[in-house]
Amino acid sequence: MRIAAPIEIGPLDAEAQQSVRELAATAEAHDGVAPLSEQPLLNLGTDAEWITHVVAHTPAGSTVGYVQIDRSGPTASAELVVHPEHRRHGRGRVLLRTAERDATLPARSGEPGQHGKELRVWAHGDLEPARAFARAQGLRPVRELLFLARPLDAAPPTAAAAADEPGYRLRTFRPGTDDEAWLRVNARAFASHPEQGRMSLDDLRARQAEPWFDPEGFFLLVPEDGADPAAFLWTKVEEPAPDGTRDGEIYVLGVDPDHQGKGLGRLLTDVGLAHLARSGATRAVLYVEGDNAPALATYRRAGFERAAVHVQYARA
Ligand SMILES: CC(C)(COP(=O)(O)OP(=O)(O)OC[C@H]1O[C@@H](n2cnc3c(N)ncnc32)[C@H](O)[C@@H]1OP(=O)(O)O)[C@@H](O)C(=O)NCCC(=O)NCCS
Repeated sequence: MRIAAPIEIGPLDAEAQQSVRELAATAEAHDGVAPLSEQPLLNLGTDAEWITHVVAHTPAGSTVGYVQIDRSGPTASAELVVHPEHRRHGRGRVLLRTAERDATLPARSGEPGQHGKELRVWAHGDLEPARAFARAQGLRPVRELLFLARPLDAAPPTAAAAADEPGYRLRTFRPGTDDEAWLRVNARAFASHPEQGRMSLDDLRARQAEPWFDPEGFFLLVPEDGADPAAFLWTKVEEPAPDGTRDGEIYVLGVDPDHQGKGLGRLLTDVGLAHLARSGATRAVLYVEGDNAPALATYRRAGFERAAVHVQYARA
């Protein structure tokens, strides 16, 4: 018997990680959107018990498909990609089925509670092949993440008012000193968010070790009478594109529930936009949940418009 799609499950050595990065880059060049987002790329070298890596090879050994399953949340999340020249040969189906087995298998006794979870699969860019694939596999969309953008060539808002907000002090993040306080306010601000609210010290440190991390673009609004920040805005400036354009991301904006409804989100958005313009970004971008009406209203007022949508699918 010939096995049509040899697959390998297990941790990735440095060479295998590089092959997956190259596969993702090839798919991005072909599809116009990256198939793996930031967290799965950061996880490529991880052998944590809640992460599973599945690689599909050709019989000659080239990497032509990959799925990563992350079972750390209330549902298991997967990101899946097949090489553009090797699509429509059933590899996506095999990888998806393997991911579903990995996530939904009942937990064995004594095992931490990571199995027996519903699997959700991301389709970045909501591309037609992914829609057709999802339909054929009996998956339906369950969550939308919007990618919003606004040009920064028009005069960006001035941030001067922020320094004068009565009762609050604006300052930048101090790595090592502010870590724990920031994790607390992040968890409170994103208590109901499936990924952001669960960010750990290790996750924060991994981002601080990334070449793009810049504390000067990570703003805290601290109440004059309190220790923990009331709100924060973290930016991420991308490398310039070959055509000279440069994206600057409002990476995370969070307001502690005790301080919501006072306009702090709008104020910090202006601070972030002014910082991104100063940093040479030509376009401000951000991700927001499709059902987060207050955040969408804040960003629409700040001039953002929908540029793309990422969809999460689950079994109907
Ligand atoms: C979506 C993706 C993973 C599919 O991988 P694949 O290996 O081509 O999928 P399969 O060959 O297993 O396809 C299984 C079935 O899905 C459907 N399908 C897949 N791609 C399709 C397309 N472009 N048009 C129409 N139907 C399609 C078909 O019913 C297909 O069965 P068939 O070929 O016997 O008709 C691949 O296109 C990809 O990597 N896209 C970019 C990343 C992405 O969008 N990932 C998210 C997936 S939810």
